[in-house]
Amino acid sequence: MSSSTKTEAGPWLELRQISRQFGGLQALSEVSFQVEEGEIFGLIGPNGAGKTTLFNLLSGVTPASSGTIHWRGQAMQGLSPDRHNRLGIARTFQNLRLFTGLSVLDNVLVALHRQPQGSGLDALLNSSRFQRRQSELRQRAMQLLEELGLADQAHRQASGLAYGDRRRLEIARALATAPALLLLDEPAAGMNPREKEQLCELLAVLRQRHQLTLVVIEHHVPLLIQLCQRLAVLDFGRLIALGTPEQIQRDPRVIEAYLGGSR
Ligand SMILES: Nc1ncnc2c1ncn2[C@@H]1O[C@H](COP(=O)(O)OP(=O)(O)OP(=O)(O)O)[C@@H](O)[C@H]1O
Ligand SMILES: [Mg+2]
Repeated sequence: MSSSTKTEAGPWLELRQISRQFGGLQALSEVSFQVEEGEIFGLIGPNGAGKTTLFNLLSGVTPASSGTIHWRGQAMQGLSPDRHNRLGIARTFQNLRLFTGLSVLDNVLVALHRQPQGSGLDALLNSSRFQRRQSELRQRAMQLLEELGLADQAHRQASGLAYGDRRRLEIARALATAPALLLLDEPAAGMNPREKEQLCELLAVLRQRHQLTLVVIEHHVPLLIQLCQRLAVLDFGRLIALGTPEQIQRDPRVIEAYLGGSR
């Protein structure tokens, strides 16, 4: 699924009137926007605004209560997270989901193994085709670790990694599924200012190299302003602003709801 060609005319990713309730709580309220192919799109908003819920909908973890999501011409309702992944949508989690007992390399290999494989018989017989495939996967995993600056830690147990490195390992795992759309939930959380700066540069490089479209949730607004072409702002589940970083920074509703508190 590394191809990023459009399958049909129309928006690349479109959310139309998306709502999600949890009991009496309205986590998302009629949110509509589009993301263009190749864009780096930022999602900001105060705690509890509905950002992660939106990612859960976009990755098939949670169904919408109402509204539709179309991606590359396809309606995504009712599809499992696995199916979303196979269609080219990958994500990272706000609360990391690594296999902490496995090595860094094995964490990436597990993700690579979820890609379509040869026959089970090949594996059973440990055929030369199977062995060749295993060595290709290892190479691919090492290449991803190289790109994320983790190659020298490939054989460490994931639990031993520094926090920022864990976040980058999550990105490597997501990239292993060869996505066209990558959803990053607070990828810079817990990083120091220098690591944040480096992450910003890294994401721009990865987008080019893997032909990605990125949607990034981040509380550190300056990072998104530097990184993104456009931003959406959520507040209490409502989309209160959408535009370029310049437009967002000037928007009085955004200043009041979100930026105001941090100035
Ligand atoms: N599975 C769930 N069951 C019940 N309520 C939920 C569930 N998931 C999210 N919520 C609620 O929905 C609202 C939005 O939560 P969400 O996690 O999407 O916010 P967020 O914008 O990601 O916040 P944060 O910046 O703190 O990560 C919150 O009030 C949260 O408590
Ligand atoms: Mg969240």
